[in-house]
Amino acid sequence: MKNIVILISGRGSNMQAIVEAELGDARVAAVIANRPDAAGLAWAAERGIATVALDHKAYADRLAFDRALMAAIDDFAPDLVVLAGFMRILTAEFTAHYRDRLLNIHPSLLPSFPGLDTHRRAIEAGCKLAGCTVHFVTAELDHGPIVAQAAVPVLDQDDPASLAARVLKEEHRIYPAAVRDVLAGRLRIDGLRVVASA
Ligand code: GAR
Repeated sequence: MKNIVILISGRGSNMQAIVEAELGDARVAAVIANRPDAAGLAWAAERGIATVALDHKAYADRLAFDRALMAAIDDFAPDLVVLAGFMRILTAEFTAHYRDRLLNIHPSLLPSFPGLDTHRRAIEAGCKLAGCTVHFVTAELDHGPIVAQAAVPVLDQDDPASLAARVLKEEHRIYPAAVRDVLAGRLRIDGLRVVASA
C-alpha cells in the first residue's frame, strides 16, 4: 500500500476529492496544514485520517519551518506528497528532498499566470480560456514538469469568483487522476516533460 501525504492551508476541497477518489493501491496517510484553523483538517480527522497542524508562524524562518514540515511528513513514509491549496513558498532544500514525488495543483494554465490572483489576471488579460495545471514541484515557483491540465472557457460576464468555481470543478477531476497515474507508475519525467511510461 502506497502512502500519500496531503498538505493544505484552508478549505481542502482538492484534498477531499483525492480522499474520495479510487486510488488503487494507495491511501491518504495524513493531512498536514500550516494553519491550525484550516477547515480541511477537521474534515479529514472526522474520516479517521491522521492530521497534523504545524503553524508556520511558530518558526524563526522559512527553512526552520520546512525542516519541521519534512520531519512531520516523513513520519508517514510518503510515496507521494501532494500540495492541495498549500499557500507557502517552499525552500530548495524541501523541493530537493521530495524530488519527483511532490505534486502541486495551480489554478491557471501554466506557464501562464504563476503566482497569486490567477483568475483576475486571466480575465484582465482578455483570455478566452483559463484552467488548472497539475505539475511536479521544483525549486522554481509554479514551474516544474506538467502532469495534467484542463481548460475552461472564460465567459464575458465572469468575475474571479465565477471563473474560480468553473476551474475548481476541473481541479477536482484532474488532480485525483494525476495522483493515481503517478503512483501507478504510468508516467515518467523526461526533462521538462512528463510522458507515458514505456
Ligand atoms: C485551489 O484552487 C488551488 O488550485 C489553489 O488554491 C485553491 C485551494 O482550494 N492553489 C494555489 O493557488 C496554489 N498557489 P482547496 O483548499 O479547496 O483545494
